[in-house]
Amino acid sequence: MILSGSSSQQLAAALADALDEDLGRVEYETFPDGERLVTVPPVSGRAVVVAATDSSDAHVELLQLQDAAREAGASEVVTVLPYMGYARQDKAFEDGQPVSVRAMARAVSTDTDRVVTVNPHEDAILEFFDVPATSVDAAPQLANPLPGDLEDPVFLAPDDGAIDLARSVRDAHGDGETDFFEKVRHSGSDVTVTPSDIDVTGRDVVVVDDIVATGSTMSEAITALDDPARVFVTCVHPLLAGNARTKLATAGVEAVHGTDTLERAVSSVSVASVLADELE
Ligand code: R5P
Repeated sequence: MILSGSSSQQLAAALADALDEDLGRVEYETFPDGERLVTVPPVSGRAVVVAATDSSDAHVELLQLQDAAREAGASEVVTVLPYMGYARQDKAFEDGQPVSVRAMARAVSTDTDRVVTVNPHEDAILEFFDVPATSVDAAPQLANPLPGDLEDPVFLAPDDGAIDLARSVRDAHGDGETDFFEKVRHSGSDVTVTPSDIDVTGRDVVVVDDIVATGSTMSEAITALDDPARVFVTCVHPLLAGNARTKLATAGVEAVHGTDTLERAVSSVSVASVLADELE
């Protein structure tokens, strides 16, 4: 049975279809003091808990779903983290700070038999789980919504860490050049991007990243492009915090495409089939 966190209901339904498994009807409540409560139906056999942890409440809800699934009779609990929050805090940046993603991974490991994630920020974070943890790659799917008539396309990563994603999207599209920019992050929302030598004049550009959070990285990258034809933004995790979508629009983007690891208006690509392949 598939059990969904409150913010992953669309993906959970698609995954239930893809796996031909029941989708459990979960009830979600918030008490006046802000505490959360979930109620799940009886489970026999495997429970697959699907929950993006993009907020502190979502983390709590996930732990509750895992515990409730066992109580409801699940013989195995598989946890699917379509988007894993805190993954970018993968080291202590200063003395006295936690390795936040390790703390989250340990908590998630407590009541599950296995974890599956989608394009975690770094695969190394999988080592922080105390149970078997794997990731699936949704990047090739990001080529699906792109127009077939891209003009002499360039698939661009805003930093070197995203170049493999850009290559995956290019390969899935079929043709095009790839390149990456140099990025320096000054604060949570202040980044500078230095363009490479690639000439994008009159060409269609597809900028590819794992996450669009504040939109600073993407909007800086788009602004740095010299007279492109059209600019498309693709990302696995369209977090789109605050005014990120407006930043992209005012930077001149033609379209933004993300996956349903986070359910947003731009989530035009589903990761259900790649997750189903991993879970079958
Ligand atoms: C960082 O290394 C990631 O790959 C993304 O580039 C980053 O998380 C995007 O964040 P923002 O949209 O806030 O610039």
